[in-house]
Formats: sequence, structure tokens, C-alpha cells
Amino acid sequence: MSENKQLLTLQVNGEDHEVICDPRMTLVDVLRHELFLTGTHVGCEHGVCGACTVLVDDKPARACLIFAAQAEGRVIRTVESLGTPEELNDLQEEFSRHHGLQCGFCTPGMLMLAEGFLAEEPNPSREQVRECISANLCRCTGYQTIVDAVECTSKRRQSADCSGCSFAAAVPQNKEENQA
Ligand code: FES
Ligand code: FES
Repeated sequence: MSENKQLLTLQVNGEDHEVICDPRMTLVDVLRHELFLTGTHVGCEHGVCGACTVLVDDKPARACLIFAAQAEGRVIRTVESLGTPEELNDLQEEFSRHHGLQCGFCTPGMLMLAEGFLAEEPNPSREQVRECISANLCRCTGYQTIVDAVECTSKRRQSADCSGCSFAAAVPQNKEENQA
């Protein structure tokens, strides 16, 4: 190994990965270019837009601001840990149902931001959801549909009544109905 390179072991989405990389490489670049987890996007690379948000030890973090070396020994989760294209998780389903994405560039970061937020605050007020989501930039949706999606996910996770939501009628009762 070149003396300019380092060997890291990163735990990402439940698996250990050994990576040889430049010491100055950021976590987002290692995720995308070494582990080919391209669901995590890169926007500003300055910690402003939130497109690169992942979970580090269950907390949302800007992966463009973290050296990969700093992530050793931490538990990393990316958007690939949520659902699959065939089987979205509940948060992804609500983003889809509420039209919480348009171009989709901000979406992986928004999903991981919301996932971390709901783990910490399972029953948030709408104001708390708005404040959380304001951390990341979206230039397409106007944010309201993202807030709706996060609110409905919270209600679904608590099996709470979602009838006030204009999309309630579209919430599938089970997978069979969803696939019908
Ligand atoms: S790319 Fe990391 S905050 Fe914008
Ligand atoms: S959906 Fe396009 S930036 Fe958010």
C-alpha cells in the first residue's frame, strides 16, 4: 500500500467494508466511489444543502463534512438501507404517495434526515417536522409535501388515525391491495 493511502474498515448498512483510500477522502466520496453506494448524493460539498445526509450512529450527518477515517468504528446507514425499488419502506412509500419528490436530487438526504429524526422523535408536531426538514434544501417541491410525508409516516408507525390527511384514502391496507 502506498504511504499516501490508508486502510479503513467501515461499517455501512450492517456490513463491514475494507477500503484503501486517500486520508483526505470524505465519507460521501468513499460511499459513492469506493463502495458504489450512489444513492447518497453530492451537492454543495460544503455542508449547506444536505443532499449527502446519512446516518452516523443513528444521527443525521453531512457525509461531505466527514473524513472517511472519522467514520471508522461508527455505524453508517445510507438510503440503500431503507427499502428496495420493489419494496419501499414506509417513509419512502409516503414520499411517493404525497409527491414529496420531483427531480429527486434532495430525496436520499431528505429520507435519511427524516429517518433519523423520527427515530429520535417518533411523534413530532408538524412544526417540529418543518423545523427538521428545513435543515436540507429542496428546490422543487416547496417542502409541504415532504412535511406531509414525514407526518404520515409518523402516524403509520404508531398505527394512529391518518384520516385528516388528504391522502388517507390512498394508504394501502395491506400489500395485496397495494399490488392490486
Ligand atoms: S453535499 Fe454535503 S451538505 Fe451539500
Ligand atoms: S425534489 Fe428536486 S431538489 Fe428536492
